[in-house]
Amino acid sequence: MIASVQSALTVIASKLRAQLSGESTVIMGAPLAPRTTLGVGGPADLLVEPASETDLAAALRCCQEHDLPWRVLGRGSNLLVRDGGFRGMIVILSPARFGQVVRVGHRLHCGAGARLKAVAGLARREGLAGFEFLEGIPGSIGGALRMNAGAHGSWLFEITETVRFVEPSGLVRELPAAALQARYRSCDFLAGRVAVAATLKGEPALPETIRERMEANARHRRATQPREPSAGCIFKNPAALPAGRLIEELGLKGAANGRARVSELHGNFIVNTGGASARDVLGLIDRVRSQAAARGIALETEVEIIGEDRPPN
Ligand code: EPU
Repeated sequence: MIASVQSALTVIASKLRAQLSGESTVIMGAPLAPRTTLGVGGPADLLVEPASETDLAAALRCCQEHDLPWRVLGRGSNLLVRDGGFRGMIVILSPARFGQVVRVGHRLHCGAGARLKAVAGLARREGLAGFEFLEGIPGSIGGALRMNAGAHGSWLFEITETVRFVEPSGLVRELPAAALQARYRSCDFLAGRVAVAATLKGEPALPETIRERMEANARHRRATQPREPSAGCIFKNPAALPAGRLIEELGLKGAANGRARVSELHGNFIVNTGGASARDVLGLIDRVRSQAAARGIALETEVEIIGEDRPPN
């Protein structure tokens, strides 16, 4: 990194440490690979774990003042960080600070840092149905809102009533979910904002019935999805046919590039077989895409790809 950029970042980091409460964390040069399920990629220039909404707002304001790019990282389960890392600030909403889930009537008020598995588990114990599909998604509420995460024919915005978020200016707002216009696997509105909480609505049902549905989902997942490190489904399903089936028909299951491999179990997963680089994964994505394009199908990535390539030596 060039010296002037390094010193500008040091100034921003000191400013943040002075402005935020002592309970917030500010780290320079934080490795991101261990914070993602795929486990590849370089470090973030800055990583901030705010201890409160006020600190989050202050961190975003600081980025705006210094024209510093930022991204929120949820559970890192749908993220591919390039090998050169991320130039700017990564914001993490920890389950400890932002993960509260409270039941009010048929609703769950969830913090953005809450794990989907925890939300689904609480709903089951409380006898609230409609949250079963969240059980096997390895994400947090915040990331799942941004991606409109889904599984088993359901998706998060179907059960979301309101979303509370912070604007880049630091302003905190709350809107009805419909105003955010989420679509299949994306809520574009949240791309430049940070969701901090959401109200999700369920329906009363017997915990036993809910448990059976969750177990059926888990059986399907275990039978069809790999356990090795991955970022979940790599591509969105195109209109013509599911991406996994297409990749299977193209004969690409098991195809490898370096330490990355298309799963033998599900064609839409790329797994890290141990020590893969982002370059390995991106090379495989390109190969799948160009073979799909040759069949007249444009594949769009579902995983978020951030950061820069590693500069050549
Ligand atoms: N299929 C194949 N070959 C494969 C994979 C799938 O022929 O290698 C076929 C299956 O037999 C099935 C169809 O394709 O007929 C759909 O497969 P599956 O039921 O596995 O669902 P999917 O559309 O591939 C979607 C979500 C998953 C979610 C599952 C389970 C997308 C892109 N993916 O997968 O979400 O877990 O349904 O409900 O919408 C994710 O978002 O990261 C993700 C994994």
